[in-house]
Amino acid sequence: MSYQSQYNQSLIEPEVFWAAQAEQIKWYEAPKTILSTDENGLFRWFEGGKMNTCYLALDAHIEAGRGAQTALIYDSPVTQGFLTYSYDELLHETAKVAGALKSLGVQKGDRVIIYMPMIPQVVFAMLACARLGAVHSVVFGGFAAHELALRIDDAKPKVLLTASAGVEFDRIIPYKPIIDVAVMEAEHQIEHLVVYQRWMHKARLNNDRELDWSDWVANAPPAPCTPVDATDPLYILYTSGTTGKPKGIVRDNGGHAVALRYSMQQVYQVSPGDVFWAASDVGWVVGHSYIVYAPLLTGCTTILYEGKPIKTPNAGAFWRVIAEYGVKVLFTAPTGFRAIRKEDPECLLKLQYDISCLERLFLAGERCDAATLHWAQNLLQIPVIDHWWQTESGWPMLATPIENGQVFPIKPGSAGKPVPGFQIDILDADAQPLNPGEEGAVGVKLPLPPGCLPNLWNATDRFIDGYLSAYPGYYFTGDGGYQDEEGYTYITGRIDDVINVAGHRLSTADMEEIVAAHPAVAECAVVGIDNELRGQVPLGFVVLKTGTQIEEPILEMELVQMVRDRLGALACFKQAIVVKRLPKTRSGKILRRIMRLIADKKPYQAPSTIEDWSTLEEIEEACRERLTLTI
Ligand code: COA
Ligand code: AMP
Repeated sequence: MSYQSQYNQSLIEPEVFWAAQAEQIKWYEAPKTILSTDENGLFRWFEGGKMNTCYLALDAHIEAGRGAQTALIYDSPVTQGFLTYSYDELLHETAKVAGALKSLGVQKGDRVIIYMPMIPQVVFAMLACARLGAVHSVVFGGFAAHELALRIDDAKPKVLLTASAGVEFDRIIPYKPIIDVAVMEAEHQIEHLVVYQRWMHKARLNNDRELDWSDWVANAPPAPCTPVDATDPLYILYTSGTTGKPKGIVRDNGGHAVALRYSMQQVYQVSPGDVFWAASDVGWVVGHSYIVYAPLLTGCTTILYEGKPIKTPNAGAFWRVIAEYGVKVLFTAPTGFRAIRKEDPECLLKLQYDISCLERLFLAGERCDAATLHWAQNLLQIPVIDHWWQTESGWPMLATPIENGQVFPIKPGSAGKPVPGFQIDILDADAQPLNPGEEGAVGVKLPLPPGCLPNLWNATDRFIDGYLSAYPGYYFTGDGGYQDEEGYTYITGRIDDVINVAGHRLSTADMEEIVAAHPAVAECAVVGIDNELRGQVPLGFVVLKTGTQIEEPILEMELVQMVRDRLGALACFKQAIVVKRLPKTRSGKILRRIMRLIADKKPYQAPSTIEDWSTLEEIEEACRERLTLTI
């Protein structure tokens, strides 16, 4: 079926369309309804269906004769560790971890937090939870203890799985001290902590609630799959919102499996046996969907890469991995390519490798600038497809379609056309669709297709208020954008307090909370400003309490350290500028957008409701004199 007919059918007859897609997976019991609403009036897919995501990702392929095929390749230039697991082997490892979790009393519906680096055990752990019907919540290893504690208190896990250390380039980051602080800070008490001891650093286990991973799994009997309802949660993934409290995005089992399988066919166009590489981290949604679940649900070979695009050992790292394993489709964030371009502008290192196996490159996670797109196109001479989605959707909402092997025209600056299942409209403040060329809020007409968040973890009101109320009949994505006459959509950026640093989604409100806690700070604003490498980086503006005596460089150093300690180094919070006042409207609203435009040296138009025009001149002057972040 053509892209257009699929798209039309998915909107006109969503239940017929998704019922057909649901037939592609093996259910223990077929769904009783395709689309229904729950007790909160929220849409649910495939109610009554019984299945198991781990069964579909592993056992089903083995039953179909793919047991000997490589399922997972672990490539770790930072530790010189290289391993492969066939589907048989991956099932063996996963079933043992599931058995070990069971021995700790973990059952269907229990939560398990996973705070681990990019090692095979993280994949075993995620799949093991899925096997038991337990709900995993993976926390990105770069988050500091406080962020982990927030997640422990919200998810209330029975068990926390971790490793003794992560490795960042050549730096060993011990995890246990972070865990110890988080566990102490959290009110919720976990029952057990299991630590995978890595050779480069051994963690000290303090009591008998803390277990060594190897001993823990050594004698564990393999656990079978527990059937779950399609609507049961598979995982919770916390993401940044507009407050300091992260939002627990819930993913269900049935809709997720159906949607991800469909996306591999329709968006990425890969088949069983193909090698698919998402160069991301399992701590992000890209890692959940396209390192772990989608490739395995499809019977592909997936790559778990513990390294960076550069300096591990050089900017040829991506080309080596592609050539070595025969990668057909690569998915990464534009930052990765910007980093390679910066280190190796002529891309001479690529000449050392034969990467003719690579058929398509997909970029997402942040806006792709035209320069990076053109550089990648010229370099690779293959389709480079910018596509757009978010933690909440779990799979792409916009992408340039591929039909009969031919990619539709790629328009720089656009993330493509809506993927079947998603009606994307650009809305005005009254939730009315705007005309082509007019910029507004990006909304997705309800119901969202399968695979998207059905709700937030234990926060239905926050879900309804944050996503469904502002534009009735629509899910509000938090992004702004516009469309052209041909339905291509251009995402112009977040219109809330979320920023994107090297493809990592962070909340400026979160950083403001931390900065405001400094005893010298009266008030502050953190904005995301343009950055050539990372897309955006945060910049703080602070107003001191009257009478405070502190040297600006010392204050800045302390604030930078506070954000690193409380949120994590990944925030890249590196500069705070002291100003006399923050520009505000007469009703007291801080004009963050205007401050961002000033810092980016872009034209701006202040609202007539501004309290005092001279505050803008003060910000301009402060940026002119003291802004050192490279743009
Ligand atoms: N554990 C601990 N610390 C981490 C971490 C992790 N998993 N991930 C990042 N950090 C730390 C880094 O060590 C760095 O600390 P530093 O300030 O002390 O040096 C800081 O967080 C910033 O990390 P990062 O933005 O990754 O910077 P970098 O210099 O290490 O690498 C790039 C720069 C461009 C190579 C890197 O950002 C990159 O590969 N980006 C690709 C984007 C991507 O994959 N995004 C995923 C979403 S799809
Ligand atoms: P995350 O939930 O971490 O995946 O971040 C989602 C956000 O990243 C989106 O809401 C967008 O703001 C941004 N984003 C993701 N992909 C793109 C893209 N292709 N173009 C522009 N912005 C993007």
